Amino acid sequence: MDVRSAQHLPAALALLLLLLGCVWSQALGNAPDRIAVIGAGIGGTSAAYYLRQKFGRDVQIDLFEREAVGGRLATIRVEGKEYEAGGSVIHPLNLHMKAFVKELGLSPTQGQNHLAGVYSGDKFVFEESGWYIITVLKLLWQYWLNPLRMYMWVEDIMDKFMRIYRYQDNDYAFTSTEKLVSALGGDYFLQLLNETIGKALQKTGFSQTFINEVVTPVMRVNYGQTVNINGFVGAVSLAGTDSGLWSVTGGNRRVCDGLLSASKAQLIPSTVTSVEMITQPRASGGKTQQYEICYNSTSGVAIAHYDIVVIATPLNHKMSNITFWNFNPPIPEFSRPYHQTIATFIHGQINTSFFGYQDSSSFHIDGIFTTDNPKLFINSMGVVSPVQNEQDKLEQSLGSAVWKVFSKEPLTEEQINVLFSSYDSVKAKQWLAYPHYSPPKKCPPFILHDQMYYLSGIECAASAMEMSAIAAKNVALLAHHRWYGNTDKIDQEGLHEKLKTEF
Ligand SMILES: Cc1cc2nc3c(=O)[nH]c(=O)nc-3n(C[C@H](O)[C@H](O)[C@H](O)COP(=O)(O)OP(=O)(O)OC[C@H]3O[C@@H](n4cnc5c(N)ncnc54)[C@H](O)[C@@H]3O)c2cc1C
Ligand SMILES: *[C@@H]1O[C@H](CO)[C@@H](O)[C@H](O)[C@H]1NC(C)=O
Ligand SMILES: *[C@@H]1O[C@H](CO)[C@@H](O)[C@H](O)[C@H]1NC(C)=O
Ligand SMILES: *[C@@H]1O[C@H](CO)[C@@H](O)[C@H](O)[C@H]1NC(C)=O
Ligand SMILES: *[C@@H]1O[C@H](CO)[C@@H](O)[C@H](O)[C@H]1NC(C)=O
Repeated sequence: MDVRSAQHLPAALALLLLLLGCVWSQALGNAPDRIAVIGAGIGGTSAAYYLRQKFGRDVQIDLFEREAVGGRLATIRVEGKEYEAGGSVIHPLNLHMKAFVKELGLSPTQGQNHLAGVYSGDKFVFEESGWYIITVLKLLWQYWLNPLRMYMWVEDIMDKFMRIYRYQDNDYAFTSTEKLVSALGGDYFLQLLNETIGKALQKTGFSQTFINEVVTPVMRVNYGQTVNINGFVGAVSLAGTDSGLWSVTGGNRRVCDGLLSASKAQLIPSTVTSVEMITQPRASGGKTQQYEICYNSTSGVAIAHYDIVVIATPLNHKMSNITFWNFNPPIPEFSRPYHQTIATFIHGQINTSFFGYQDSSSFHIDGIFTTDNPKLFINSMGVVSPVQNEQDKLEQSLGSAVWKVFSKEPLTEEQINVLFSSYDSVKAKQWLAYPHYSPPKKCPPFILHDQMYYLSGIECAASAMEMSAIAAKNVALLAHHRWYGNTDKIDQEGLHEKLKTEF
């Protein structure tokens, strides 16, 4: 050590002792007493579950929910059977969802195989064949090597994405979505966040025809939007065309119910209206910071105090409408608009002549994708099976089936009359479904205040069940590390290299 740095030694030592002191006082006495989680979708229920794992059995965890547990995972009843109305398919490499299902004793159902077609408003520009080899030849004929290159491009992104599980297994956490995404795929992933999937694919050399006729229809079915969504969510959306997709037998929302009971959190059915920062005198002297949550339920308005708060619903006036009092600087509203998608379930017979088939007996397509044509009033439509029976694949005859139609606006009776030659029943569910993506945008932070966390901001990168679960685990780890002062597990760089050599 040279003389110059030795001069700083006493100051550095004092600082170190001071820091240690702070860490010590929390580590010794004060485990948190009470944690609040606002929102009981897959994000909030998995947060409760991970918080319980991290903080142990003594902490009280309250879970606030104003509607049904499950949030955007919900089923709808059509003619006595339940169908997935919100989040429906799960990728085989979504490891948190997979682990939940296993741990909770639930069972997976394999996704349906559709015979897909892409409708442009006048005709089908692409149709799958019942013969796999014919479909492959058609793809080659129409799009040359684009489909294969697409598969490899998505595969490569998936590979990098999978690093998150290694990081989280080793308790590493991130303070922002950008830092998390960058730890997975570096500058390339960051760039994907800030440019459109259309642009990203063009730059990689995909043909415009392929983008219009294959990529756009996939974005429309999964996110109700075009190739103007960001490249990262675009890649997640394309991964949704992989094989092996599955869902939870009995309905995906069962995972939320299971996590809620496994977490031993207390469900408080009510609407949170505000969160206020308050200071309380401590028994041992001094003051401590807490959060006062104001909520109302059928039994009236009430308040409760918490050491840690996790917000698991989009902070957006239309969606959660929570007011923050006494924060300095104030908690901003992350006013990213959410995109409306209507899921309409129609039991009926499709009007094949609308889709250009005069002879209905030669029509076998049961998964209809669409290109970006302004005269089209639907994004997609496909035959669906109910959630309850895994064996029962049902009479999939197109004669009469239950179709799930996605559209931006509610379907009018005239529109339904054009799509179907006859029908028995119609049921619709309106969603503010996912962010309206318009890159470039900065993502909201995971930390809103000292001990107040926000997990839904991750949707700005991509909205999916697994993304909420990843954010939930990240936030539980962050909360734990920050409470006990383990800063060496937060925002570490070079994690991939580091963990590679650690075995
Ligand atoms: C039509 C549709 C199709 C989709 N398809 C897929 C798919 O195939 N695969 C996939 O992975 N994802 C899909 N998604 C996305 C997926 O459903 C969501 O990303 C995920 O469910 C979000 O979960 P969450 O817990 O983060 O938010 P949410 O489920 O929205 O949970 C937030 C909860 O907070 C509650 N809440 C809000 N404000 C308050 C308040 N003030 N007080 C108390 N409670 C409050 C709400 O009632 C809600 O229950 C789809 C979504 C939709 C809508
Ligand atoms: C909560 O309060 C709002 C506004 O005061 C009211 O409109 C709403 O009905 C209340 N919710 C419940 C569940 O009581
Ligand atoms: C949000 O809540 C405030 C008060 O809690 C209420 O006055 C307002 O109408 C609510 N807005 C929406 C969009 O629900
Ligand atoms: C079916 O579609 C055709 C073509 O759009 C339309 O003329 C017809 O009215 C629709 N309805 C029925 C019941 O055939
Ligand atoms: C992405 O764009 C936002 C908004 O323009 C900007 O704040 C951010 O720094 C950009 N991020 C990167 C990695 O370029």
